[in-house]
Amino acid sequence: MATSRELNDKIIDAGQLADGSDYHVRCMEMSDVPEALEVWKEVGLYEGLHTIESFLQVDPEGFFVAVRNNDGLVIGTLSGVFVDPRTAFIGLYAVRPKFQGHGIGMRLWQKMLNHVGDRNAGLHAVPKLQKTYQEKAGFKLLDERKIFEYKSMSLRTDDLVHKIDNIAVVPMDENMIDSAIAYDERILFYNRGKLLRAIFGEKDALALAAIDQDNGKIVGYGCIKKNNIDTAMSGPVYAENDAVAELIVFNLITKFNLAQEKGLNMMVPDCNPGAIRIAQKLGMIKHEELPRLFTKNIPDADFDKIYCITVANFSPF
Ligand SMILES: CC(C)(COP(=O)(O)OP(=O)(O)OC[C@H]1O[C@@H](n2cnc3c(N)ncnc32)[C@H](O)[C@@H]1OP(=O)(O)O)[C@@H](O)C(=O)NCCC(=O)NCCS
Repeated sequence: MATSRELNDKIIDAGQLADGSDYHVRCMEMSDVPEALEVWKEVGLYEGLHTIESFLQVDPEGFFVAVRNNDGLVIGTLSGVFVDPRTAFIGLYAVRPKFQGHGIGMRLWQKMLNHVGDRNAGLHAVPKLQKTYQEKAGFKLLDERKIFEYKSMSLRTDDLVHKIDNIAVVPMDENMIDSAIAYDERILFYNRGKLLRAIFGEKDALALAAIDQDNGKIVGYGCIKKNNIDTAMSGPVYAENDAVAELIVFNLITKFNLAQEKGLNMMVPDCNPGAIRIAQKLGMIKHEELPRLFTKNIPDADFDKIYCITVANFSPF
């Protein structure tokens, strides 16, 4: 338990709730993650059980919480993280419904902006906040691409590619991680080795690699995990072509029981027709379309190989 001196050192802002009680804003810590996931669930949104931890390791100064002083309840969350040095990605923007509309979100936002500075920033907007981001927060609709959010409680796998000669889909192990990181870098044009190591090691998750057995090279990889609403979510799924992507998704779903037992959520770039076809073959329903907003420019990546983005809160890819 932190002493009051230690706590004071961490506080970066403070305010008062509608009932007169006090709250403060500070950087998020690993121990805040379960409550942050509760806040996110309270606003009806989902996130991987251990995904915040992975990104928190990469940019610990990019995560913020608002906390009620008298009992330590986390009442609001926000992140603006640099994994890609070119662009901060903003996510996890939420205040528990009971406390909304009293300036807590804006206080968190100001602190996050201090971290992001005047560098390029991006986010996936829920449709109801798109106008706010564009008219009040300096974001622009520069990118025509959107993210389609699919979900299904009962997946059909019959139509997916089940097998490709000479391609093996195997659990990501230590020997493959460096090759997977190099593969990822060829698609995104920056190295996210630290993040991927964390993601591949997440609990309640599965990471698979597709290997060309003729030459031992990685031709794709994919991850699936449990989230805070007790369904499975996939991402990233990156692959050389549609067939390999399907094979990876088939293996993720059939080897991660939760997906078939409780359902799957998946975020797909609309510019990749093969990715949309996979969602359709699985019998998934498009639930929402998320615009990709940026403040200055659109970071580039090889979208033809992105079948499922890493995670909507923390990454444009
Ligand atoms: C979005 C959310 C975090 C805002 O928190 P909040 O504490 O209720 O917001 P505040 O009281 O600080 O701010 C409210 C005002 O600031 C505006 N505002 C909110 N965020 C803003 C931002 N980032 N930049 C500029 N203005 C903003 C709002 O439009 C509102 O303006 P109004 O009073 O003229 O209507 C909160 O409403 C929420 O949790 N929503 C559900 C979760 C969600 O959809 N998150 C976004 C995912 S992309």
